[in-house]
Amino acid sequence: MNKIVNIAIIGLGQIGIYLYNELNIKKKDIEIKTGKKIKIVAISAKNRNKKRRFPISKKIFYRNPLQIFSKEKIDILFECIGLPDGISKKVVETALKNKIHVITPNKALLAKHGDVLASLAEKNKVNLEFEASVAGGIPILKTIKEGLATNKINKVYGILNGTTNYILSEMENSNENFDKVLQKAQKLGYAEPGNPKLDLNGFDAFAKIRILSALSFNTKISKNKCIMEGIENIKLTDIKIASQLGLRVKLLGISEVINGQLFETVHPCLVSKKTYIGNVNGVMNAVITEGKPVGQSVLQGEGAGPGPTSSSLLSDLLSILRGNIKYPFGISNSKRKFIKPFNNNNYTNSLYLRFDVRDKQGVLSLITNRLAKYKISVKRIIQTPDKKNKKATIVIITHKTTEINARNCLTLFKKNRNILKFPTLIRLYN
Ligand SMILES: NC(=O)c1ccc[n+]([C@@H]2O[C@H](COP(=O)([O-])OP(=O)(O)OC[C@H]3O[C@@H](n4cnc5c(N)ncnc54)[C@H](OP(=O)(O)O)[C@@H]3O)[C@@H](O)[C@H]2O)c1
Repeated sequence: MNKIVNIAIIGLGQIGIYLYNELNIKKKDIEIKTGKKIKIVAISAKNRNKKRRFPISKKIFYRNPLQIFSKEKIDILFECIGLPDGISKKVVETALKNKIHVITPNKALLAKHGDVLASLAEKNKVNLEFEASVAGGIPILKTIKEGLATNKINKVYGILNGTTNYILSEMENSNENFDKVLQKAQKLGYAEPGNPKLDLNGFDAFAKIRILSALSFNTKISKNKCIMEGIENIKLTDIKIASQLGLRVKLLGISEVINGQLFETVHPCLVSKKTYIGNVNGVMNAVITEGKPVGQSVLQGEGAGPGPTSSSLLSDLLSILRGNIKYPFGISNSKRKFIKPFNNNNYTNSLYLRFDVRDKQGVLSLITNRLAKYKISVKRIIQTPDKKNKKATIVIITHKTTEINARNCLTLFKKNRNILKFPTLIRLYN
């Protein structure tokens, strides 16, 4: 690579514009650390005249990012548009084919097309770096690829979405319901104002889990059907009852190799307030890896926002400027295999079940009898009557049971005039 390195930034939204400013103010520091002078020669976004957080040079602005490849000589390209396909994929593919290093925070693109793009990068002997795609500013991918490189990792899990962690924490702290706290999150910029769905329904955390699995277990990105649940159905009642039981609701992403089979999931979990993960609150993310011989490693930090995300993007930049060509997923693409999926039906947990019922004699025994039919044994019952409305809430904590058993048993509760709603289920995490 020459002493002067030409850079393009595609996408000038929350992340791209912050990165643009960081690169401008950190030029000298980057030169001291790498011996390379960086020069931003092209930027692109949809709207040329949009008012942005930092002023841009319109002389280097392109409305169509694909034109840049024929007009400029680019060494490193940042893709910050964020689509899973379309123009994001086209820009990254074109860059790699033109032997341009690519850095991106785009987890949706990586989780969907990561294998093909990694193979393209390898073929063209350039880097495809994506540290910022998982857990914002936490250097978890480098930790797995480099710091833990010789360990056999068998599990990686954690809190991978700051928006949902903020909402769950704030519901507990403020005693306010989901909708109110979501509005607060949107005002504070923690949740997208228009469409926060991909954070709330677990999809965002799931894309990160797929990337983490591939890196941790040296596998291809899985396409397995998995249990993916978000936090949209978590009620303030559940958070309050959980709190009385010494538990907290956390949206966990879990990836594990069980008997040589890959198990990946994202769903709300009840965790003890005494555990480490139970005390990662607000917008914080935390990732825990378990490997041999290293044991357990924990990384915690801010999982989103322009500052933490730019920190990871710049760390990828420095790694490329220092001349470190690497396989995107740690090993050659040809050595990465698919591994058999774990049968989700056999996933086993204790359960928290909340029933809204008519306050009538015999309802509790009706519930426990139906659970007994599926050999689901009861560990604890908490009954809260609402005399005025002739209703009651019954919460049952069960002993461990399999996913298939729980699902089959719960179908028995679909229709009953004394059970007012389909029960809420939250799995307990060990
Ligand atoms: N926001 C975070 O905290 C965060 C954290 C970690 C990772 N990420 C990832 O970072 C990426 C970017 O996120 P963001 O929050 O910055 O998104 P964003 O604010 O929606 O920005 C998207 C940018 O892409 C531009 N764009 C859209 N279509 C384009 C096209 N056809 N050609 C050129 N530019 C186009 C938009 O242009 P206009 O501005 O002109 O509309 C905008 O500047 C995503 O992959 C996201 O998952 C974000």
